[in-house]
Amino acid sequence: MEKTAKLKINDSMYELPILEGTEGEIGVDISSLRAQSGVITLDKGFKNTGSTKSAITFLNGEEGILRYRGYSIEELSSKSSFLEVAFLLIYGELPTKEELSEFTNEISSHTLVHEDVKSILDGFPSRAHPMGVLSSLVSSLTAFYPKSLDPNRSVEEINGTIIRLIAKLPTLAAWSYKNRMRQPIMYPQNKLDYTSNFLHMMFGLPTSDSEVNPIIAKALDQLLILHADHEQNCSASTVRIVGSSHASLYASVSAGIAALWGPLHGGANQAVIEMLENIRNQGGDVSKFVEKAKDKSDPFRLMGFGHRVYKNFDPRAKIIKKAADDVLGQLGINDPVLDLAMKLEEVALKDEYFVQRGLYPNVDFYSGIIYRALGIPTDMFTVMFALGRLPGWIAQWKEMRENKEPIGRPRQIYTGHRNRGYIDISKR
Ligand code: SDX
Repeated sequence: MEKTAKLKINDSMYELPILEGTEGEIGVDISSLRAQSGVITLDKGFKNTGSTKSAITFLNGEEGILRYRGYSIEELSSKSSFLEVAFLLIYGELPTKEELSEFTNEISSHTLVHEDVKSILDGFPSRAHPMGVLSSLVSSLTAFYPKSLDPNRSVEEINGTIIRLIAKLPTLAAWSYKNRMRQPIMYPQNKLDYTSNFLHMMFGLPTSDSEVNPIIAKALDQLLILHADHEQNCSASTVRIVGSSHASLYASVSAGIAALWGPLHGGANQAVIEMLENIRNQGGDVSKFVEKAKDKSDPFRLMGFGHRVYKNFDPRAKIIKKAADDVLGQLGINDPVLDLAMKLEEVALKDEYFVQRGLYPNVDFYSGIIYRALGIPTDMFTVMFALGRLPGWIAQWKEMRENKEPIGRPRQIYTGHRNRGYIDISKR
């Protein structure tokens, strides 16, 4: 017997199906509400509204649980690799040895981008933010691979588009950095693993063989795993809704990169470091900034704190905080900003304002400290987030397409003028 929710509007009663997810989450399916009653619902920011059913990622904000296809990020970040996690998210299962080897080899053979991309890159001034460059370059892939424009092509052709994007994003990301630095671009060295190849293209020099520090490569691989997906966050929802119009994967991911750029979303990792450096430059009084963040008349927020879903702790932040300690120790780096971050966390988490609102460090609070230690410049931090989130965006886009979901087109409550006649300009 189907469970239903009963909704009384004026004198009428409506019944709506109740859905239950694999982990016991309950939802009311309002798909038939407007047809039954002429009434819609309103939920600014979709804080209480599900957009889809998905089998990719499960998270529980109250208990701080995050799993990709049922596997915990604690296990995956300590035992797996980024490419293996990418395969898991996109195809649904952990690969066999042969499958992972084939996936890795396919990616290694597509890391180069068309030479004409360099002309596009040359058009950007050196002050261009790498996220704007990256979003543009990903969209430009539709020009070099026009068959990718049609998302209804064969599974093999869609898979080719997916492989190309995973292979080329590190190259485009590194080239957006080189453009910023006005340094010569570095070509991929496919004998290197995925993360090491990216570091080679970022920091390698044309005059010498690339020496990638394995500690740095491993730390970055773990960070990419921790960023790989996060169910229906702002940028993943952007990728889905753009893809729902049958726009190409490249166009959809380009839009996702733009959404991630915002400081309330992936742009927070850059904003955290800028905030911590500002606190340090103003004498390091974290309590003063905690009070600023509580002051409603002050637009200042503690960047890296709070989350739409996690109200106890962000499990990724716990892993990254430990990794930050480990990596700085292994590299022999003493970064006063890390000490400041830990002090800020300690003061904030003793403050009723933060505890009452469930505002804890999120994934962005400590990640920037590791990126700094790895030698990655601040305005490349969100590009690193995009590199990690790519498999998640692809998995979400692929699931939406395979489920033949309709074009996303929300309703609204109109609050403007009622019907009125045109007034000639001479009489206004
Ligand atoms: C990511 O969705 C995802 O999954 C995203 C992400 C992913 O992996 O894709 O996890 C990645 O985007 C992490 C979040 C990074 N952003 C930041 O660190 C920016 C700072 N944090 C916020 O602006 C805020 O916490 C959000 C945007 C993250 C969440 O905002 P919500 O859920 O819309 O909550 P809200 O803005 O309505 O805040 C609720 C209350 C408000 O106070 P009251 O009106 O109750 O008095 O908490 C306050 C807010 O003023 N508040 C903060 C705060 N965050 C929320 N006050 C001070 N500092 C903060 N950081």
